[in-house]
Order: sequence, then C-alpha cells, then structure tokens
Amino acid sequence: MEYINQIIQGDCEEVLKQFPDDSIDLIFTSPPYADQRKSTYGGIKPDDYVDWFLPKAEQFLRVLKPTGTFILNIKERVVNGERHTYVIELILKMRKQGWLWTEEFMWHKKNSYPGKWPNRFRDSWERLLQFNKHKKFNMYQDAVMVPVGDWAQDRLANLSETDKIRDESRVGSGFGKNISNWLGRDMVYPNNVIHMATECGNRNHSAAFPVELPSWFIKLFTQRGDIVLDPFIGSGTTAVAAIELGRNYVGIDISDEYYYLSHERTSGIQMQLLEIKSERGTYNPNGTAQSG
Ligand SMILES: C[S@@+](CC[C@H](N)C(=O)[O-])C[C@H]1O[C@@H](n2cnc3c(N)ncnc32)[C@H](O)[C@@H]1O
Repeated sequence: MEYINQIIQGDCEEVLKQFPDDSIDLIFTSPPYADQRKSTYGGIKPDDYVDWFLPKAEQFLRVLKPTGTFILNIKERVVNGERHTYVIELILKMRKQGWLWTEEFMWHKKNSYPGKWPNRFRDSWERLLQFNKHKKFNMYQDAVMVPVGDWAQDRLANLSETDKIRDESRVGSGFGKNISNWLGRDMVYPNNVIHMATECGNRNHSAAFPVELPSWFIKLFTQRGDIVLDPFIGSGTTAVAAIELGRNYVGIDISDEYYYLSHERTSGIQMQLLEIKSERGTYNPNGTAQSG
C-alpha cells in the first residue's frame, strides 16, 4: 500500500478517506488541544471540539482493524475557572459512533515542577483514552512487564491479620493463592499509570510528547510489521517510535512545517538504523531484523 511508511501532508479527515477499511493496527495520537495553541497551529474552541473531532473519529473507526486499538492522548483545559467537559462529551459521542471506551491510562508527567495557582495545583497528568471496535483486540501484555521490585517482599512480610483471616476463609482459591502467584517472579504486569517525563529536547514543536510514550503503547498493542497511524503526527514522534520497534508507520499533519519536520526526523532515524544494522551485519532489506 502506497501510504505505508510515509508522512502525508493534509487534513487527516480527508487524507484517510483514501485509505482502505480495516487496515491499521494501532492509532496513537495527540490532537491539537482545544483553543490552546492558537499561535502555533490553530486552536479549536472548546465548545466546538466534539463537532470538529467526530468526523475524524469516524474515519479512524473505519480504517482501524477489528483487532486494533485507538489511543487518544488528550486533556480538557480550564475555561472560566472550571474544567471544560469536551473530553467527557467526546467519549459519550464516540460510543454512539460505535467505539468501545475500553480503558483509560494516566500519563503522570514525572518532571512537573512546583507552581502556585489561586484555586488549583499544577496539572501533572494527561489522559490516554483507549477505544476499540470490539471487546477482543490484540494486546501483548508481556511486552510491557516491569521488574517486581521490593513489592512482593514487603507485602509478604507485612500480611495483616485480616489478610490471613480472609485467606483462611477462601479454601484453596483465595488470597493466599493470589499472593503466592508472585513469589519468585522477577517481572510483573504494570498498572495503568505511566510515569514518564515530558519531552524536554528541542523538537521544534510546542507539543511533542516523549518517544517513550508511543513506544510503550506500540509494544503493548502491536507486533513487528504491524501498521501504526498517527493522524496528528506533529514532529514525527509516533513514527520514530514505530521505526525503532520495527513497525510500519503512517503520519499525517496539516501543517507544511510539521510535515517537513517529521519527514526529516523519520528519514534521519531510518538512516541511523540502516547504518547500525549494516555495521552489526544484521541489516536485512526484507525487514526481518533481529531486535524488538
Ligand atoms: C499536539 S500536536 C502533535 C504533537 C506530536 N504528538 C509530537 O510529538 O510532535 C497536533 C498536531 O496536529 C496537527 N493538526 C491539526 N489539525 C490537523 C488536521 N485536521 N489533520 C492533520 N493534522 C492536524 C497540527 O499541525 C499539530 O502538529
């Protein structure tokens, strides 16, 4: 397919109309936030956000494979002293459109620095809403396992009397069994809070997210050779993550400037990988390289 491993300049709603149904494995994106970055790429008024987004979501729904996942990084802004409800309204409308709102991850921005506001604290997290077409979707949980750390030792050393009573009351299949599942294990499944610093490097884009963010979701929801789409690609971060993990990518951006920026960035990464692989002798032009 001609759009594979391309950055395309245009309005994603129009560009995607050329794409076949059921062809994308993962959509990972951070759209322009309502009204926020007017000076850089045009804000959408919070009251208009749902109407602006829904026709795009309709195309996302059409191009996503039945086994695929859509991750939407978004956060409602404060308008007139209260949180606007456009994200909540969007979720409700997307469910009517045919999406399942399967899960919500929280991105905790680890490097958030202190500040003082009269009626709230610093906002240091963003939503990553997960939508699917069907209840059964591809998910590769083992790919994002984390070291168990000291949790198991501490938890087992500090069993309360209540824990023990509850354990005894479930003969053979209760609490004791669950805890013992983790005995002797080095790796466990993570929870749905992702602790990552924001992008601090100069990417020439005011809203770039760190490459580790799409990487985590690409590992969780795709395998090598699958296709990852970012319809609001910005500086190309999702495409970079996809390339590094041996996945195919498609990026779309309406802005000429960001189209060129992401095009340049992805070409640079591809060149680097080719050089590394040819140095190691692991480069195989048929795309069956070793890592990942
Ligand atoms: C929040 S930024 C994405 C930043 C990106 N995640 C990164 O790491 O650089 C949103 C991007 O959407 C683009 N955009 C806005 N409206 C669009 C549309 N209708 N179709 C495609 N891209 C659009 C903007 O030009 C902007 O680069």
